[in-house]
Amino acid sequence: MSSFRTLDDLGDITGKVALVRVDLNLPMKDGSATDVSRVEAVKPTILELTEKGAKVLLLAHYGRPKGQRFSTMSTSFVQGDVEKVLDKEIMFIPEVMGPVVEQSIGILGNGDIGLLDNVRFWPGEEANDPEFARGMAVHGDFYVNDAFSAAHRAHASTDGLAHHLPAYAGRAMEAELKALDAALGNPEAPVAAVVGGAKVSTKLDVLTNLVGKVQHLIIGGGMANTFLAAKGVDVGKSLCEHDLTDTANRIIDEAAHAGCTVHLPYDVVVAKEFAANPASLRTCNVHEVAADEMILDVGPLATEALGDVLKTCSTLVWNGPMGAFETEPFDTATVALAKTAAALTQDGSLTSVAGGGDTVAALAHAGVKDEFTFVSTAGGAFLEWMEGKDLPGVAALIA
Ligand code: 3PG
Repeated sequence: MSSFRTLDDLGDITGKVALVRVDLNLPMKDGSATDVSRVEAVKPTILELTEKGAKVLLLAHYGRPKGQRFSTMSTSFVQGDVEKVLDKEIMFIPEVMGPVVEQSIGILGNGDIGLLDNVRFWPGEEANDPEFARGMAVHGDFYVNDAFSAAHRAHASTDGLAHHLPAYAGRAMEAELKALDAALGNPEAPVAAVVGGAKVSTKLDVLTNLVGKVQHLIIGGGMANTFLAAKGVDVGKSLCEHDLTDTANRIIDEAAHAGCTVHLPYDVVVAKEFAANPASLRTCNVHEVAADEMILDVGPLATEALGDVLKTCSTLVWNGPMGAFETEPFDTATVALAKTAAALTQDGSLTSVAGGGDTVAALAHAGVKDEFTFVSTAGGAFLEWMEGKDLPGVAALIA
């Protein structure tokens, strides 16, 4: 892995101003966050900096205001949630540069925290305008990026600032980069990838990148139907992108050339309607799906066989559920495979890394989120990393 500076490389930071990019794009309901894992992830960095006497200015986006100020998208809405997780009071600063920021820094004591407003209120953020980055940089002595989940954006706060101030990876960023390197950068083989979710079209680049890197590609979710159809299986009225069967066949061919085994379900759980515990629920061989049935989960035999595949592997990277996991009993395969992966991880035989919104929800539902080696809080950034792309926010730290 290319090297980047971490908080270990900071000297005496007493009284210094740290501009810390965090991801506070939290899911909210009735004025408070429904999931604070992104705040929990950056807590060690913030506390380490405050304990060392720095004045910490948190810099974050919230939603997509596209360069305009919307009162409904102010970071002040997450202030309470951040304070609760940090167990510390923070000062809200309704700007990201200028006299208000300067005055606020004067009021903050060493070890205090300020929260700047939504950096996307200013067009210079998404344009990655160097003048805008410079305007923010003048307030800080150094820059810390602890927002891996925003690292796929080449914005002033994720990329630009690193060119104007000494730049460091925060503890969450550091852990994320180490885990991702262990999963796909320099993994211990054999490596398995579980890729699920509804559509092949959203994960084409992921699949194409993975076939050259992993020994086992386990395909689940609705996208498995497209692969089954490509192999001539009649998938009934299952969700299926019939126009992508050529693409699916190309991926299967590329996998064969690269020595990657593609695993598709050979038994499936089907129903005539998509509802919880429907009367028409049954399990059958993939070749026995009736014209009026849809595949909603991987069957028990295939699930067990996939668990056996994981037992032969040293590394696992997981994105996407195996079935329609939000509706019972179509969560069965996802839960069973997640539990197998968690048990192997706990035994020390598997390094398991998972990411993506649905995946984290699925692992939490299976009760094993804390038993994987690493679960990323990133959505889009995790997918772009799985696609093999360079992430600008990471590249800026390495440069
Ligand atoms: C996310 O929620 O995945 C990150 O905060 C990035 O948000 P964005 O897709 O609006 O850039």
